[in-house]
Amino acid sequence: MERRKLVAGNWKMHGTSADLGEVTAISIAAETADADVALCLPATLIERATRAAPGFMIGGQDVHQAEKGAHTGCISAAMLLDAGAKLTIVGHSERREAQGETNSEVKARAEAALAAGLNVILCVGESDAVREAGRAIEEVSAQLSASMPTSITNASHFSVAYEPIWAIGTGKVPSTSDIAEMHSALRERLKSSYGEAGKAVRILYGGSVKASNAAEIFAVADVDGALVGGASLKSADFLPIVEAASGNSG
Ligand code: PGA
Repeated sequence: MERRKLVAGNWKMHGTSADLGEVTAISIAAETADADVALCLPATLIERATRAAPGFMIGGQDVHQAEKGAHTGCISAAMLLDAGAKLTIVGHSERREAQGETNSEVKARAEAALAAGLNVILCVGESDAVREAGRAIEEVSAQLSASMPTSITNASHFSVAYEPIWAIGTGKVPSTSDIAEMHSALRERLKSSYGEAGKAVRILYGGSVKASNAAEIFAVADVDGALVGGASLKSADFLPIVEAASGNSG
């Protein structure tokens, strides 16, 4: 099945108004790219980024499952939409680890965001220890099952990002055969839950994606794009990755 690639940057806790020029540069290149491009920014920058780059896909990095309430420091889907965001990441391993987000919380967040009209990138991935123990496929498949929405109404609004924790920010990347094996297992899981729609959900790879390895990763079966951390902060690093995706659609 033909799936248009999605290359999403995750700026994490980086970026102030001084960096808006990078957003603009990326948005201009995105207009002519043969791939969907997005940047998930710190919440404080979303509104200004959408003004600086009208029409470009700006997202948040997390969303709370409740519509509103006593949740100090949290952001609702309605707030993200109000700021101009069109998507959000949920379940990033840094949040699962540091904020103790559970699978059921991640699932509730994904469902709340989709219901409100945001696109969602749901992250899953195994630790080094799990990979070493030979249990990566089993554990990540189970993690996906427990954290994915029960149903989806539009497959193009929902993506999964496979991000091995040991590959994030480390420069280490799994072999292309390990990526292929994982993505194929996740595809089966999506199909068994969503039927035909499961074939249309994009499965991104994330973890130390950069210009030098992007083309090889995008050529792997069932890799439908990338979630990029460090290499998304500067247009000079990010745009070659977008270009690699453009040359590799399908
Ligand atoms: P990285 O981060 O590209 O810096 O490894 C990826 C991510 O955490 O989404």
